[in-house]
Amino acid sequence: MTILPGLTTTQSPFIEQARSHGELYIHQPYELYSDANHAAWRALFRRIQPLWRRHATGSFLRGVESLCLDPLHVPRLEDINRFLEPLTGFRARAVSGYVPAFVFFDCLRNREFPTTITIRGLDSLDYLPEPDIFHDVAGHVPMHTDQAFADTLVRFGDCAHTAAEMAAGIADPIERAERLNSIIKAMARFFWFTVEFGLMNTCDGLKAYGSGLLSSHGELGHAVTSPDVQRFPIQMEWVINQSFEIDHYQPLLFVVEGFEHLYHLVGELEEWMRAGRLNHVAPGEPVVKTRDIESFIQRRSHH
Ligand SMILES: [Fe+2]
Repeated sequence: MTILPGLTTTQSPFIEQARSHGELYIHQPYELYSDANHAAWRALFRRIQPLWRRHATGSFLRGVESLCLDPLHVPRLEDINRFLEPLTGFRARAVSGYVPAFVFFDCLRNREFPTTITIRGLDSLDYLPEPDIFHDVAGHVPMHTDQAFADTLVRFGDCAHTAAEMAAGIADPIERAERLNSIIKAMARFFWFTVEFGLMNTCDGLKAYGSGLLSSHGELGHAVTSPDVQRFPIQMEWVINQSFEIDHYQPLLFVVEGFEHLYHLVGELEEWMRAGRLNHVAPGEPVVKTRDIESFIQRRSHH
């Protein structure tokens, strides 16, 4: 009996092959998903659903409905896009793995969301350091049905272009790399504390809109209700200087007042960038990779 290799995180020959050929954008070879892959999706979906109803923002819940996410099978990106594209112009686009920072933000600017197509193994449902299709499609994509949120992501892409333009004006390569290191760190922190782990004040109380929270069965309720979490109104000067670690529950989260608020904050981030206020943010996590810095210098959009 042969066992299908499947599309399991870190164990997928299809993905390894694409990476070794340098292919970033790939198709979703749906027939490769194994029974175990679908079982993982089913288990993850079943246990997160009641938590979504309690702790997710209304726009996320409406997003899940309007995408008609299948609770029983790993979704096909083309099915999702059929519902998503008419709403905000966004599309989920399959990638083989790590997307360098500029390319990632540039995709958002083009209303494309780089989407992981592998899924965690049944033996590691609780925690996975890298994104998988459950995080990307069940955690991120429902938010892309919201107009103000979708526009906010595009605004992030504009910010990245501004950063690349500013860096291009610096003649000294060492100074240019240092400048980008700080700006990318600031952007990554802002993205982390909003798009990935953001909380929002709503008329129904405190809710989560961050995808890292919405795709984590363990952390979602903890983030919204636990007295062990510090929650503060978001402040630009704090967020861009605040380090974070990815391997445990977040001890500190920031709260926005709505997606219009978030949209304006990204505009403010860009103003701060232009004014040089992101040039020397506090050191610490996240460590900016050399290839992220290079992606801003090369500005290759991979289209
Ligand atoms: Fe994410």
